[in-house]
Amino acid sequence: MRLIDLFAGCGGLTSGFETAGFRPVLAVEWDPSAAATYEENFGSHVLQGDITAVQDETFPSADVVVGGPPCQGFSQLGNRSQTDPRNRLWQEFARVVSHVQPSVFVLENVPQFLKSGQFQLMQDWTSDAGPLAGYELAWGVLNAADFGVAQRRKRAILIGSRVGTPTLPQPTHGEKGAYAWVGLDDALSGIPFEAGPSSLPNRARDDGIAGPFKAEELHLSRNPRELSLRRYDAVPPGGGRFDLPEDLLPACWANKPTGTTDVMGRLEWDKPSVTIRTEFFKPEKGRYLHPEYDLDDSSKRVNRPITHWEAARIQSFSDDFRWCGSKIEIARQIGNAVPPLLAETIAAHIRTSLLDS
Ligand SMILES: C[S@@+](CC[C@H](N)C(=O)[O-])C[C@H]1O[C@@H](n2cnc3c(N)ncnc32)[C@H](O)[C@@H]1O
Repeated sequence: MRLIDLFAGCGGLTSGFETAGFRPVLAVEWDPSAAATYEENFGSHVLQGDITAVQDETFPSADVVVGGPPCQGFSQLGNRSQTDPRNRLWQEFARVVSHVQPSVFVLENVPQFLKSGQFQLMQDWTSDAGPLAGYELAWGVLNAADFGVAQRRKRAILIGSRVGTPTLPQPTHGEKGAYAWVGLDDALSGIPFEAGPSSLPNRARDDGIAGPFKAEELHLSRNPRELSLRRYDAVPPGGGRFDLPEDLLPACWANKPTGTTDVMGRLEWDKPSVTIRTEFFKPEKGRYLHPEYDLDDSSKRVNRPITHWEAARIQSFSDDFRWCGSKIEIARQIGNAVPPLLAETIAAHIRTSLLDS
């Protein structure tokens, strides 16, 4: 089962598909550090560059094409401008599918994609004369927590097939599944409460890109100000900025009595985390404080945001995964990825329902 991954990032999708028995034969990713991470884990078949410059003839045959075109244009957090050129990068995905003619394709994006004019256009393209003629589509919003990932992360998943009617996998966890949601106690087990040094080891590849780094080398501490530490200390599990006493409240939040409930939030051991975004190391951006907290004894509180290692674990990356780039670049790779465990479930579902028959 040959796999092509477009907009591959560090390879979250490829990781899950590989575990499910697929063999990656080509990937395209323009960010040099993400492409380096991909290469360290899956091999030198990754083309580092702009997909719009990759000619049709470059793509080998494949059974499945997967990809997560950039989603800033659709994301609620970003600029939702209809004219954002990144909104049209899925058309590059469609171009490659049209040329390679895989049995199945999988496109991942933010849920807003399904409400966009671009998605309407994509459906039109499956008509007889369109570039995606011959493909039937199935789509929906999947929550990674419903598939055993210790993270509530909702993403649009669209499966196209020309070998049978596609369906989405059914949840295995949570209200709709047989098992309870997986909590952080499971995902973070074995990781020390005390973070390591604040910088990555001084190591680089021949091309100058920092790394490769092991998971435990990403257990990076930060150097918060005294005021930040006092704020972290005031927030219990499940709490957030509303727990801050007045003297610790920044003016921007004091003047905004509602909304942004997750900022300065603390995670909870027995629950999945919120969505891990690219700036998970900044508690002022979301619910990213470590869950360990003794209500009575402040010396038994872990007053720091989650580290890169912890974020990678929450995203269900194996500790064997190797990472390349700066701290910020690696955080972006982690936050942008499809959780490998979700990808593996989708891959296994495609195999049994469409490809193995
Ligand atoms: C949402 S991330 C993909 C994450 C990936 N599916 C995973 O599971 O790890 C989108 C990726 O598209 C890459 N990208 C954006 N524009 C691109 C382009 N024109 N050509 C190639 N890659 C591009 C970005 O650098 C980013 O890594």
